[in-house]
Amino acid sequence: MTPLLEASALFKGFPRGEGVVEVLHDCDLSLAEGESVAIMGPSGSGKSTLLNVLTGLDRPDGGRVAWRGTDLLSLKADQVSRWRRDELGFIFQFHFLMPDLTALENLLVPVRLRRTPNADDVESARTLLDHMGLADRRDHLPGELSGGEQQRVAVARAFMNEPSLVMADEPFGNLDRDKGLELADLLFERARRLGAGLVVVTHDPGLAARADRTLVLTDGRLAARDEVQA
Ligand SMILES: Nc1ncnc2c1ncn2[C@@H]1O[C@H](COP(=O)(O)OP(=O)(O)O)[C@@H](O)[C@H]1O
Ligand SMILES: [Mg+2]
Repeated sequence: MTPLLEASALFKGFPRGEGVVEVLHDCDLSLAEGESVAIMGPSGSGKSTLLNVLTGLDRPDGGRVAWRGTDLLSLKADQVSRWRRDELGFIFQFHFLMPDLTALENLLVPVRLRRTPNADDVESARTLLDHMGLADRRDHLPGELSGGEQQRVAVARAFMNEPSLVMADEPFGNLDRDKGLELADLLFERARRLGAGLVVVTHDPGLAARADRTLVLTDGRLAARDEVQA
């Protein structure tokens, strides 16, 4: 089976002073359709850089990124944007909800990037919010929601376009651990139900344990966690 997403021999550095700091060094990742992977690693090890390269937000200095076998790095910028819009869902540490839109309206934002939302879209948004335990918060503005509720809306929004892959960068890092793990369960359940792949960057081993595999980014490369501990 062709992997959903496959990165091979990625290199990425950033200029610093006279030299270059190498962040990714011969980094590989292969993700099957519907598979979930947790990525751990110390702060500054390059986890966000890796996600940026995998999602076409940043270009690697070397290597290959393929989506269902198609070379992403050879696509034009507008094709990459369309791919990201149609196939990916994102959850960040900060929710990035629109402050002047209600929870329900925030869910319709990714739909609006493609077309005018219709009654079915509103129904999908309601259903998603219900599943996230926010049935009575649909018409609240983000400022009227708790941190955990805001992040629930962000999780729901990531699934609005029925993505093939959801990327989450320390999604619950700002919440109490118990609340974070509760949301992690909802996130993994939604991804499984949809058959979407899931890449979650996290510092929490409890959250990582919910993924099919855990990889650790060290010295610019991803390794299985047991290899790192050995
Ligand atoms: N746009 C950038 N310009 C220069 N250096 C960067 C940039 N983005 C990240 N870095 C550097 O790359 C390293 C990895 O950063 P990052 O990917 O954010 O790590 P992590 O997400 O694992 O904490 C850090 O040393 C950071 O300072
Ligand atoms: Mg980061």
